[in-house]
Amino acid sequence: MNHVVQCEKVTKIFEQGLIKVNALTDVDLAIEKAEFICLSGPSGSGKSTLLNMIGGLDTPTSGEVYIDGEEIDELNKSELADLRLHKIGFVFQAYNLIPVLSAQENIEMVMQMQGVSKKERNEKSSAILEEVGLQGMEKRIPPELSGGQQQRVAVARAIVSRPSLVLADEPTANLDSVTANKLIDLMLQMNEIHKTTFIISTHDPMIMQRSKKLVKLHDGRIIDIT
Ligand SMILES: Nc1ncnc2c1ncn2[C@@H]1O[C@H](COP(=O)(O)OP(=O)(O)O)[C@@H](O)[C@H]1O
Ligand SMILES: [Mg+2]
Repeated sequence: MNHVVQCEKVTKIFEQGLIKVNALTDVDLAIEKAEFICLSGPSGSGKSTLLNMIGGLDTPTSGEVYIDGEEIDELNKSELADLRLHKIGFVFQAYNLIPVLSAQENIEMVMQMQGVSKKERNEKSSAILEEVGLQGMEKRIPPELSGGQQQRVAVARAIVSRPSLVLADEPTANLDSVTANKLIDLMLQMNEIHKTTFIISTHDPMIMQRSKKLVKLHDGRIIDIT
């Protein structure tokens, strides 16, 4: 059976001159469709590095990452770009929207790169804006939206093309706890309705509590899965 994500002995060593940092060591992780996973661990434990490996934004020093059964390392540049574009949605810490484009244009940008027609882009972005509770705000640019609203746009942009997987790196880091909770509500809802797999990194205990599965990292190793 193919997992959405499979990491086998993933190790990442960053070398800076003579200094070597073992950011990840022998990480084994298998994730099934529709899972909702929280990656937790203190700052520097390897959360972002692991998400970057899974998203094909960086490659392991050794070990393998498979997405839907395909080994990322074996893909050429354009196959990898294709995989990222069609199978994975990304949400980062706040401020990853394009500030001069409206909420709707930000959401449509990925679809535009995918070659979706203007009519279909408009229909899909309108529907998703409503789904994430931003109807009436289509034309606003990010500086005219609150932090929580901006992250809703980011989630909408990540899920609009129904990717198999959404990777979110500390998506609530810049939000107050009420707004953070609402963003998690939204992601859980999208997970339930669309069966999208979510992997969210955080060091916020409240988010960890709400996750369906918790993967704890420490010094680049998985120390617990609950
Ligand atoms: N590009 C890089 N070059 C050198 N070291 C890095 C780089 N990215 C991350 N690291 C190091 O790898 C370790 C894990 O970092 P990171 O994955 O960012 O942790 P987290 O996201 O859990 O805070 C840290 O020691 C960090 O300093
Ligand atoms: Mg990080």
